[in-house]
Amino acid sequence: MAKRTIVALPGDGIGDIVLKQALRVLDASGLEADYIHGDIGWEFWCKEGNPLPQRTLDLISKHKIALFGAITSKPNEEARAELNPALQGKGYVYSSPIVGLRQKFNLDICVRPCKSYKRNPLNFIRRGKGNTIEEPVIDVVIFRQNTECLYSGVEWTNPPEQVYKALMTHPKFVENFGRVPVEEISVSTRIFTKKATERILLAAFDHAKKYGYSSVTVCEKPNVIRETSGLMWKLAKEIQKTSYPGIKLLNTNIDAQMMWLTKNPEDYGVIVAGNMFGDIASDAFAGLIGGLGFACSAQFSSDGIAVFEPTHGSAPKYAGYEIPIVNPVAMIESACMMLDYIDEKDKSDMIRKAVAETILDGKTRTYDMMKMTGSPEVIKDGAASSVQMTDAIISRLR
Ligand code: NAI
Ligand code: MG
Repeated sequence: MAKRTIVALPGDGIGDIVLKQALRVLDASGLEADYIHGDIGWEFWCKEGNPLPQRTLDLISKHKIALFGAITSKPNEEARAELNPALQGKGYVYSSPIVGLRQKFNLDICVRPCKSYKRNPLNFIRRGKGNTIEEPVIDVVIFRQNTECLYSGVEWTNPPEQVYKALMTHPKFVENFGRVPVEEISVSTRIFTKKATERILLAAFDHAKKYGYSSVTVCEKPNVIRETSGLMWKLAKEIQKTSYPGIKLLNTNIDAQMMWLTKNPEDYGVIVAGNMFGDIASDAFAGLIGGLGFACSAQFSSDGIAVFEPTHGSAPKYAGYEIPIVNPVAMIESACMMLDYIDEKDKSDMIRKAVAETILDGKTRTYDMMKMTGSPEVIKDGAASSVQMTDAIISRLR
């Protein structure tokens, strides 16, 4: 296989810690790759007024694949205060580089697998019949539309006249809000397009077929949000009928899904949703398999760009420790998703097996797996450091 070039984006906080560990695992797996560093995150906001510099976008455009740690975002006022004094008052406005990456490259497909590892002490358990304790095996992959819906940023407080006038053409708006002074109205739009909705559905069905999942569940709320959720449900039925008759199509409402997921999480396979409900469903399922230390993700564009990252953030309070304590598994799993994508499935299988064996063995556990509160003391109390956890995984690669 030709040598790969991968853009390595550590970001800040613990992003750098977990990315380093993932790169060690990739090296130990025998992957032949060059890693090119890309600047992203808080440091570049403070220094340059841009947390996602153009040179980083150029690198990603050129090499197409990025492994991303995590970044820090702060509210506007704090961002302004931390900006290089020479740049202050010159119109620089902070915006999240994650959202920036998604928009710039149209990374519209977000994939978040949640699979439980045997003997992970953080696994979800429930009561069974006769007061028994059951630990259902969870293997769910959430497909989240990543660029539209409520997070697209099309929103107003005190909407401009044309927007207000357009809203007033809707009888329900007149009925419910027609008497509210316009300056007291805030609107966030939930826009779905046919093309993007079809793309996320096709990706979900395709994944179900390729990896042998028996069902695809649309997790929206079409009975109430008739236009947008309704569009996804309608298209899902068409796609299933014409192209994937062998895969069962299920429909859950997001609220009910949050209840069902602690009752029968083993009944779900591939789940597909819009941006916000996909975000909620993926965090909820991640909680059942160990939380942020285990939640990995991938984002894909329609023109061949892919970014792989853990779902956790930069956890700044744990960033400056002399001995890093955070769990590297979510980042290592994200690297495995990258290996699947570049057809290095033998290596991703080997790494996932090594992670599973390490967790099953139970001798090496990071502080989150030991249910400790994060602090430098956890190492003294028997938790494995980020490096030790990675060493344990590397020692089982074969
Ligand atoms: P966070 O995900 O950084 O941390 C929340 C908590 O989860 C931590 O305090 C820690 O207890 C735990 N945690 C996270 N990663 C862990 C790991 N690998 N191992 C063990 N425990 C782990 O979320 P928070 O604190 O809300 O945000 C911190 C910063 O990260 C903010 O500036 C936020 O904007 C940013 N953020 C960035 C994301 C990204 O880069 N993709 C995603 C989410 C938040
Ligand atoms: Mg989230």
